[in-house]
Amino acid sequence: MAIRLINICGARPNFMKIAPLLQAYRAYPQIEPVLVHTGQHYDENMSRLFFEQLHIPPPDINLEVGSGSHARQTALIMQRFEPLLEQYHPDAVLVVGDVNSTIACGLVAVKQGVPLLHVEAGLRSFDRSMPEEINRLLTDAISELLFVSEPSGVENLRREGHPEEQIHLVGNVMIDSLRQHLEIARRSDTLQCFHLTPSQYGVITLHRPGNVDHPDTAREIVTALIELQHQLPLIFCIHPRTRSRFEQFGLWTLLSNQPHLQCSEPLGYLEFLHLLADARVVLTDSGGIQEETTILGVPCLTLRENTERPITLTSGTNRLVPPRRSAIITAIQQLDQITRPATTPPLWDGHAAERIAGVIVDYFQGA
Ligand code: UD1
Repeated sequence: MAIRLINICGARPNFMKIAPLLQAYRAYPQIEPVLVHTGQHYDENMSRLFFEQLHIPPPDINLEVGSGSHARQTALIMQRFEPLLEQYHPDAVLVVGDVNSTIACGLVAVKQGVPLLHVEAGLRSFDRSMPEEINRLLTDAISELLFVSEPSGVENLRREGHPEEQIHLVGNVMIDSLRQHLEIARRSDTLQCFHLTPSQYGVITLHRPGNVDHPDTAREIVTALIELQHQLPLIFCIHPRTRSRFEQFGLWTLLSNQPHLQCSEPLGYLEFLHLLADARVVLTDSGGIQEETTILGVPCLTLRENTERPITLTSGTNRLVPPRRSAIITAIQQLDQITRPATTPPLWDGHAAERIAGVIVDYFQGA
C-alpha cells in the first residue's frame, strides 16, 4: 500500500529540516512524497538558494502567499492549501517547526480528516507573546504523530496529556542537515570574501519581533554591537524584516557605517554554516542557531529571556542574555567561561530523518 505524504515547507528554517526527510523517504518506495512550498519566504536568498544547496527537488506546488500580517498570511495559506487535499487525497500531511505555514496547513489537514505529523514537536518557551509558541502549542494539540528533538519536548507533551504512543524522540533533523553539509560548507570562500580570520570574529542574526520591533530594545542591541566591534570584528547577516525596522527607527545608517561591523544580506545555507562553524561567538535570537552552535561547539549568546530548546543550555554552548547593552557586554567579557560539553544531545547524530521515515511506515503499515 502506498503512503501519500504531503510535506510542507514555507520559511527559511523549514528547508534544512525538510531536506533530510525527503532523502530518508527514498529508502521506502511505498512513501509517495509531495512537496508543497507555501511561499511564506520568497526572496532568492531566503528560499531558492536553499533548495539548490540542500538538493531539495523543486516543490510540486508553490502556494506563493508571500508576506502579510499573521492573520492574512495564515488565512491565505489555508485557503490555497485546502484544494490540494481534494486533488492529492494524501494519507497524511507532515509539517516541521513553528512558523505560520506549519499551523496553517496543519489546521486545514485535520479539518479534512487527514492525519497531521509534526516534526520538532514539544518545544516550549512558555512565552505566549511569541507567535512561534502559539504555533507550536496549536500544531501539537492537533497532531497524530509527534516527532521530538530533545527530552524536554517529551516531558512537555506528556504534561499536556498526549498519549505515549504519539510521542517519538527521534533527534534533530536540522542537525542531520548540518552533519551532512559541514565539510562542504567549510570549503566555501566565505571567510575570505568577508576578510575574516577563523575564531576572530562574531556573527549576528536577529529577527524576532520581541527584539527588532521595539525601538528601545533594538537601540540597546545596536549600541552593544557598536561597542563590541572594536574588540572583535562582527558580521551581521540581516533578515529583511530587521533591516526595514532598523531603517524605520533610524538605526540603519548608524549600524552600517561602523569600521569593524559588516552588514550582509541573508546568506545561503553553506556560506552561513561556514561562518558559524569558524566564529568566536554568535549573537542571535534564532531557534535553530542555538542548536547548530551546540553541535559546532561555538559559544552562542541568545538575546532572549527564554528558550524552547533548553538542552542547548545544559548540553551545549548556548547562554541566554537579556537584550540589553550592559548584559550583552558582560556576557562577552565572560566568553571564556563557555566551554564545549563532553557530550552532545542524545540522537543528534545525523539520523533523525531516517528514524522519522521508519516510524511513519510502521504507523501506516503496522509494525
Ligand atoms: C518567520 C517565522 C520565524 C522564523 C523566521 C526565519 C513565523 C510566525 N515566523 O519569521 O519563526 O524564525 O521566519 O526567517 O512564521 N520578508 C522578505 N522576504 C522574504 C520573507 C520575508 O522580505 O523572503 C520580509 C517581509 O517584509 C515580511 C517579513 O520579512 O513581512 C516577515 O516575514 P514572515 O515570514 O512573516 O516572518 P519572519 O519574521 O521571517
